[in-house]
Amino acid sequence: MASSGFNAQQIILLLAVAASLLTVTRAAMVVVGDSGNWRYGYNYTEWAANTAPFYFQDTLVFKYDNATVHSVYMMPNLRSYLQCDFSKAKLLADPTQGGGDGFRFVLNQWRVFYFASGEGNDCKDGQMKMVVVPWPRF
Ligand SMILES: *[C@@H]1O[C@H](CO)[C@@H](O)[C@H](O)[C@H]1NC(C)=O
Ligand SMILES: *[C@@H]1O[C@H](CO)[C@@H](O)[C@H](O)[C@H]1NC(C)=O
Repeated sequence: MASSGFNAQQIILLLAVAASLLTVTRAAMVVVGDSGNWRYGYNYTEWAANTAPFYFQDTLVFKYDNATVHSVYMMPNLRSYLQCDFSKAKLLADPTQGGGDGFRFVLNQWRVFYFASGEGNDCKDGQMKMVVVPWPRF
C-alpha cells in the first residue's frame, strides 16, 4: 500500500466530516404555522403533529408582527407547559422580534422543546403552544 493512501482512521474521519456537512446542508427551515404564521387561535399542537418529524439543527421560524402582540417562550417542563405557567419560562423572542423574516430558533439541543406565547391568553386560550422533539437525521 502506498504511503500516500488513507488509513482506516482517516477514512472514518472523512466520512464523519462528509456526514456532518450533509446534515448541515439538509437542515430545514420550518415556518411555524406555515402560512398561518404564529397567531392566536391556530392549533399548534395539531400543526406540530402534522409537521413532525423535526430534525436536529432544523430552524423554526416564528413570524408575527408587532400589532398582534405575541412572543415566544421556552417552558422548562411539561407541567409549566400544560398549565401555561411562565414563572420559570425563558423568553426567546419578545413581541417586537417576530417581524420581517421572523424570529429564528435552531433545534440544536437533544431535548424536548416546549414553546408557548406569553402574551395575554395566547397560551391558555389561544392554543399558541407546542412540543417539538428533534430527531437525528441519518
Ligand atoms: C388541537 O389539536 C389537537 C390534536 O389534533 C386536539 O387534541 C385538540 O383537542 C385541539 N385543540 C382544540 C382546542 O381544538
Ligand atoms: C415594533 O415595535 C417597536 C417597539 O415599539 C418599534 O420600535 C418598531 O418600529 C415596531 N415595528 C413595526 C414593524 O411596527
